[in-house]
Amino acid sequence: MTDVVALAPRVDRGTPLLGVPTGRPMLSWKTETAAPDWLQAAYEIDVTDAAGEALWQSGRVDSEESVCVGWAGPALASRQRARARVRVWGVDGSASDWSAPADFETALLDPTEWTADFITPAWEEDASVSNPPPIFRRTFAVPAAVTTGRLYATALGIYEVRVNGAIVGDRVLAPGWSSYNKRLRTQTYDVTGAVHAGENTIEVTVADGWYRGFLAWGGKRNTYGTQAGLLVQLELLLADGTSQTVVSDGEWTVATGPVWKADIYNGEHYDARVVASDWGPVAVLEHDRSVLIADDAPPVRQTEELRPVEIVTTPSGKTVVDFGQNLVGWTRITVNADPGTTITLRHAEVLEGGEICTAPLRNAQATDVYVARGDPDETWEPRFTFHGFRYVEVDGWPGPLGVGDIVALACHSDMTRTGRFASSNDMVNQLHENVVWGMRGNFVDVPTDCPQRDERLGWTGDIQVFSPAGSFLFDTDAFLASWLADLAADQLPDGVVQFVIPAVLGDHTPTAAWGDAATLIPWTLYQRYGDAALLERQYPSMRAWVECLRSRLDERHLWSRGFQFGDWLDPAAPQEDPSAARADKHLVATAHVARSATVLAESAAVLGKVDDVAQYRELAATVTAAFRDEFVTPTGRLMSDCQTAYGLAIVFDLLEGDQRRRAGDRLAQLVAADDYCIATGFVGTPLVCDALCATGHVDVAYQLFLQTKCPSWLYPITMGATTIWERWDSMRPDGSVSSSGMTSFNHYALGAVADWMHRTVAGLAPAAPGYKAITIAPRPGGDLTAASAELDTPYGLAASRWRIDGDGFEVEAVVPPNTRATVIPPNGAGPSVEVGSGTHTWRWPA
Ligand code: BGC
Repeated sequence: MTDVVALAPRVDRGTPLLGVPTGRPMLSWKTETAAPDWLQAAYEIDVTDAAGEALWQSGRVDSEESVCVGWAGPALASRQRARARVRVWGVDGSASDWSAPADFETALLDPTEWTADFITPAWEEDASVSNPPPIFRRTFAVPAAVTTGRLYATALGIYEVRVNGAIVGDRVLAPGWSSYNKRLRTQTYDVTGAVHAGENTIEVTVADGWYRGFLAWGGKRNTYGTQAGLLVQLELLLADGTSQTVVSDGEWTVATGPVWKADIYNGEHYDARVVASDWGPVAVLEHDRSVLIADDAPPVRQTEELRPVEIVTTPSGKTVVDFGQNLVGWTRITVNADPGTTITLRHAEVLEGGEICTAPLRNAQATDVYVARGDPDETWEPRFTFHGFRYVEVDGWPGPLGVGDIVALACHSDMTRTGRFASSNDMVNQLHENVVWGMRGNFVDVPTDCPQRDERLGWTGDIQVFSPAGSFLFDTDAFLASWLADLAADQLPDGVVQFVIPAVLGDHTPTAAWGDAATLIPWTLYQRYGDAALLERQYPSMRAWVECLRSRLDERHLWSRGFQFGDWLDPAAPQEDPSAARADKHLVATAHVARSATVLAESAAVLGKVDDVAQYRELAATVTAAFRDEFVTPTGRLMSDCQTAYGLAIVFDLLEGDQRRRAGDRLAQLVAADDYCIATGFVGTPLVCDALCATGHVDVAYQLFLQTKCPSWLYPITMGATTIWERWDSMRPDGSVSSSGMTSFNHYALGAVADWMHRTVAGLAPAAPGYKAITIAPRPGGDLTAASAELDTPYGLAASRWRIDGDGFEVEAVVPPNTRATVIPPNGAGPSVEVGSGTHTWRWPA
């Protein structure tokens, strides 16, 4: 019998194993086997505590389930250490051994377990400006060696902890950004090796961050409060059998240190000559503890170091470092300078006329300043800001700047990379790489529109269109689940979803495609990860959004009134009015009501909410009929005769009878009439290639996709882009930068087409939640002679790889254990085939 190996289970949504945010984590596991067509017949889960005592033993459960299996044992307590293992049986009679264990520990799960106080400096501050970040300090004696040390922490601001001088942990920008007044995330750190018997010092710097720094445009600050705050609880188990707890309280002291200014948009200023002294008293800050929750998102970390590709002198004589890649994070410098030498680092995404172009940053200064101490090889990097940049202008450097003196550090939420794509076309590959970098730069704790200007907000529409592509590239389940919790927390009582989450713009206007993040993202996560628990958790928010939409319908069941962003950034819209798209705003809005109602009905079906299934199907049908009445002629022409309108009608399935075929034909004509240039904004961009392919126009989809003239997906590649741009023409063919006041070079929305590249060009798509069933349906086209997509699904590696050689079209499909795939050859080259796990190849005539 072939070997069957069950892998160590993934705990909950794959958040770090220290500080698991729930006492009832889901478990998922993969099975590895060379046995063909392997399906799971049964599993057994065994969870014990650190001493090996049973916490939950499932016994043998006859089930194919291996993804997001719900916790059926007694709930775990806070600080509980546990070891989970699984074993599986196959329908072929095979059996695995116990898997390797997943060792994990729960966080502080209940706010009442915090005995610490929030503390703040006792000094007076002018909160209308950036002040030097306070450093909170406590020294304490430990009577014996530490056998287990845990530090629980959060802050009102961005914090960094040092124990005995060394930074604790490898996360940056903690506690991240959430709707702080409803969900303040707390982190857990292992400090066993950092705290020792004898005298110890803990110091925590708390910078303004999102909490009270500049946020959104217009010089706004203090969004959540005016005072920095710290909450820390250090719990030690000692070798002598006793325990010790050190908490933030009135005993701590506070001072300022070398950082004299730190702001997310503006940058960090650091004087290395300064040593914190003058320790003064702290004050206890009253703060609602019921908002404390254990961190449920992946940590932000430095994930890559990039060396300069070139250092140039600009026409005006400035020194500019080119990292060759637009990225998000900061730089680290190493310098030998006289004490007091001031080095200034200004960040920019592009050059214009050979100089750094900072106009797109609007009011974000994106400038770090370092004043040297005068030591040999001083090394410094900021810790409380981040920048979106490819270029850094360096001023004040002593002597010539060398490529070894400065590195760029890319920082983002450290999600597991899961999906890859490759093809025979280098420009297409570069486009895909740009999508990946765009995602890395904009998944910095919150899914943002852009990472560089005075914005960087969790715009709902942007992530709504991008989440399918993003959920292939990386495991986004925990990241987006955490953000969706904020979306629900910030949802208004009448169901309105605010424009940005965390909600900091104070708006109260529902708008299509943006607010639909509430319904469409949980559905995407369910499709991609099989996370029905998330669907259940978000269901009230999803339903409230659809009820909000219902309340906005007019007597003819259309969403015909009120503000809409519409097909934002249609390339034909005037620069100063990105919402003036070719697609009628109310057509876009009504189509989204139908789509959200459909998704809600389908979600209700998954969750067994029978009454809701019927009522939301009916709502969807009513709105769909109204859409047809108002916007579609009987023969399938749309009132807005443009790419986005046809994309919506076809992909959202709003047409009937022969209308769909005719609409597809009309879309193909329009694309040809547009000279195969793109004519869609945020709404239509993810849909247009799918709509063409679904109606038999694969060739036209490829002509559109492979266009290199402006506007198109590949045009930015011809201009040297290394990320996805906000506008189709963020940089014009003559190298000038769009001067609209809204021009970013790192906006993921238009990269949403990557989802089509994965599903259709390479041909790998989910056919059942979590890829329990897979569709392998590559659709070759254009000048491509090969393409592949590989995805680490919740069940294991799946792949679709094809190439054309000579007269043959060859497909290789990798199907993970415990799944099945349907392979559909292009152009009816052969019959569809059903296969089980294993690697399969076919050759059909090209
Ligand atoms: C953002 C967008 C966002 C839009 C709202 C812009 O400022 O950068 O990407 O979705 O506003 O339409």
